[in-house]
Amino acid sequence: MFAHRGSKGTHPENTLAAFREAILVGSDGIELDIHLSKDGEMIVIHDETVDRTTNGIGEVCKLSLAELKALDAGSWFSPIYKDEKIPTLLEVVDLLEELEFHGILNIELKTDHHPYDGLEEKVNQLFQHKKIHFKLVYSSFNYSSLVKIKELNPLSEVAVLYAQNGNNVRVLNKKYEISAWHAKFDWVKQKQVFNVEKMPIRVWTVNSHRYMQYCFQKKISAIMTDFPKEALAIRNGWQ
Ligand code: G3P
Ligand code: MG
Repeated sequence: MFAHRGSKGTHPENTLAAFREAILVGSDGIELDIHLSKDGEMIVIHDETVDRTTNGIGEVCKLSLAELKALDAGSWFSPIYKDEKIPTLLEVVDLLEELEFHGILNIELKTDHHPYDGLEEKVNQLFQHKKIHFKLVYSSFNYSSLVKIKELNPLSEVAVLYAQNGNNVRVLNKKYEISAWHAKFDWVKQKQVFNVEKMPIRVWTVNSHRYMQYCFQKKISAIMTDFPKEALAIRNGWQ
């Protein structure tokens, strides 16, 4: 079970509070999204702009780290999170290490709107120099980002974010090994594809109890959910 953007349903998404909660409840994996700031820092946020999840406005790529750090990334969710800031990828990695997270971190490269020149090199560099005790898997809707990641380090694990475009999957598959499919739940349910030989299928985003149970019964490799604590309770009750 992967916590989508941290424990997004109970905490402000993609903040340290959301990641801390995801680890404390026992998530097997954590998913987050990254962009580059104006001054080239790897920033953990979902949207291309800060408008929805902070008290500021503007595009992440046009704001410096200092400008991004001045924003309140928690109050939009609840006043009790008013001190939450937009984290850098390094800050999240440090938190995961501090909390002794030994699961899988799924870094989604949000390069489908802006190419963010150099993002793949930066993330690869970070993990060349950082000792970590969790596994890494990269994903992206932009397949060229995954190819770059593989070219930089062929041992990197990459997961195809499945958006119903089989050609893209085949292009990547020709040259590089894919570690997993991260597919939209609706597609998986419609096609009844729950298992592919030797290839984990992780589905997003499964939030209803009914569909959590459905996925566990189908023995899908993992669900990605905004409610990791509830998902674990259901999985434990079902087993
Ligand atoms: O990685 C699965 C999921 O996060 C992809 O969609 O928009 O939530 O990043 P999104
Ligand atoms: Mg994502």
